[in-house]
Amino acid sequence: MTKYVGVLTAGGDTPGLNAALRGLGKSALGEYDMQLIGFYDGFRGLMNDRSVILDEQHLSGILTFGGTILGTSRDKPHRMPVGDKLMDMTDAMLEVYGKHHLDVLVCIGGGGTQKNAHRLMQKGLNVITIPKTIDRDIAMTDTTIGFDTALGIATDAVDRLHSTAHSHHRIILVELMGHNTGWLALGAGVAGGADVILIPEIPYDPASIAEAILARVRSGKRFSIIAISEGAMTRTAAAELDGLMKQKKDGKTKEEKKAAAASIEAWQVGQSNKTIALAQQLEKLTGLESRVTILGYVQRGGIPSARDRLLATELGSAASSFIDKEKYGSMVAVRGEKMEAVPLEKVVDRRRTVPLDHSWVKAAKRVGTCLGDE
Ligand code: F6P
Repeated sequence: MTKYVGVLTAGGDTPGLNAALRGLGKSALGEYDMQLIGFYDGFRGLMNDRSVILDEQHLSGILTFGGTILGTSRDKPHRMPVGDKLMDMTDAMLEVYGKHHLDVLVCIGGGGTQKNAHRLMQKGLNVITIPKTIDRDIAMTDTTIGFDTALGIATDAVDRLHSTAHSHHRIILVELMGHNTGWLALGAGVAGGADVILIPEIPYDPASIAEAILARVRSGKRFSIIAISEGAMTRTAAAELDGLMKQKKDGKTKEEKKAAAASIEAWQVGQSNKTIALAQQLEKLTGLESRVTILGYVQRGGIPSARDRLLATELGSAASSFIDKEKYGSMVAVRGEKMEAVPLEKVVDRRRTVPLDHSWVKAAKRVGTCLGDE
């Protein structure tokens, strides 16, 4: 019997999304008797039933394209902006699912998308998810679509900053994405030979960084490159955040919790210029001129790497085989050399952070990289 498969891409885009759509679609149409219906712009398109039947024509020639042919958004089913309100639009999505007689909805996305798919699953929909994010922070999978491409772009930036930092005898801080995890900055920092790598998992002390830079100056190296995660923070900021989180958790009334949440938001706003603040601080502490490069969205743009194309094709095509076996309620995960269906309950509400004993951390330390902690 023909299976009707809905698919959407949600959350921040990453290189390799089209390769995943192609992998899923070509195997669903070619190997199995399935029909594929794409929804535009993530969960918003599902709510509005903005859809397209994806046939061979749509799936051809997209393997190497960046972005997503379906478009994406960060809209959540249960908090959808409608007019000037946030509304729970889950029921509207259930209706569209029913109207298309879908057997399953495939959601390709990051941590937020895994949660949203899980919510729809709890409302009775069959879902299968595919993990993508340049942050590589989804639990229960070794890696995610987009990380390898972003790692290449970030490493290239660290490489290129070397010659200009060296020529001007400057400190250059390059701020990299990664949300609240340090995979991208750590990976690019190690691969690009950054002198200092700062990640959220290891809160930093500006004085230790200055000391490491001055030690380089004493050994004749008058420049330094710092790869800093967007989520990295000083020890003081980390302690403040811990306190605010505790206040939120321990808040007895709704008002107390709301007040703590507002303080966390204010803390986040205060963090937004922390890389520039660190550059200014290091200039004072070391006497070296400092400059900041915020790499931003270039890390998510353009052609997917060979590794991401491979991964997306493996995950996409594995998803169609899991649909065939009706392994619903799961994420297609990379576990060692295998693609496995992991129950979504094990994925949501967890984040894959960098373990302090990870081999990348050890390698960085062994080659003398300062991680800002000692
Ligand atoms: O999750 C991917 C990511 O690029 C993060 O690294 C970054 O923090 C975030 O998305 C940026 O989000 P947005 O696209 O909503 O600005």
